[in-house]
Amino acid sequence: MSDVLAIYPGSFDPITNGHFDLIERSRRIFDHLIVALLTNAEKEPLFSVEERVGMLREVTRNMKNVSVDTFSGLLVDYAVQKKARALVRGIRAFSDYEYELRMALMNRKLEPRLETIFLMPAESYAYVSSRLVKEIFRHGGSVKELVPPVVEARLRQKVNSLRHEV
Ligand SMILES: Nc1ncnc2c1ncn2[C@@H]1O[C@H](COP(=O)(O)OP(=O)(O)OP(=O)(O)O)[C@@H](O)[C@H]1O
Ligand SMILES: [Mg+2]
Repeated sequence: MSDVLAIYPGSFDPITNGHFDLIERSRRIFDHLIVALLTNAEKEPLFSVEERVGMLREVTRNMKNVSVDTFSGLLVDYAVQKKARALVRGIRAFSDYEYELRMALMNRKLEPRLETIFLMPAESYAYVSSRLVKEIFRHGGSVKELVPPVVEARLRQKVNSLRHEV
């Protein structure tokens, strides 16, 4: 049987320990994992695509079967182009479930050969989201336990540079 490739899509603005936890779990299941950053998300990101890719690459540097890429447009088109067999998504709480279920069923309708796999993070990361990390950091709280060290450093730089702009 050929190698099984999975794609873990998201906006990763920035990558958190919750994302990291899912990457670690996925790469033990699949032969290869592509962490794929969606570049046409509608929301206004804090970090540019280049900055987000840079952080993802640093954090996954020692993971031989993980690569980082970007995509725009439909996820299923990208997945087919990459010959992926599965999509990885995370379920933190019931609140994620409805949206993720809708997305998974829609993606299945668009591309029946592609399977969505849901993973649960370690309990300690069940409440971590990029949005929450940014909010805590903006108000001076500690994000040390929520993001990889490189991300904490970049957040500090980012907030300092934004302060100097105004
Ligand atoms: N702490 C976490 N545990 C498990 N899954 C997660 C966690 N954080 C994100 N995910 C999952 O990773 C995928 C990509 O998520 P996304 O890029 O939206 O991150 P996010 O942290 O939810 O960001 P935002 O707060 O901007 O929505 C989604 O399936 C999401 O449910
Ligand atoms: Mg989200």
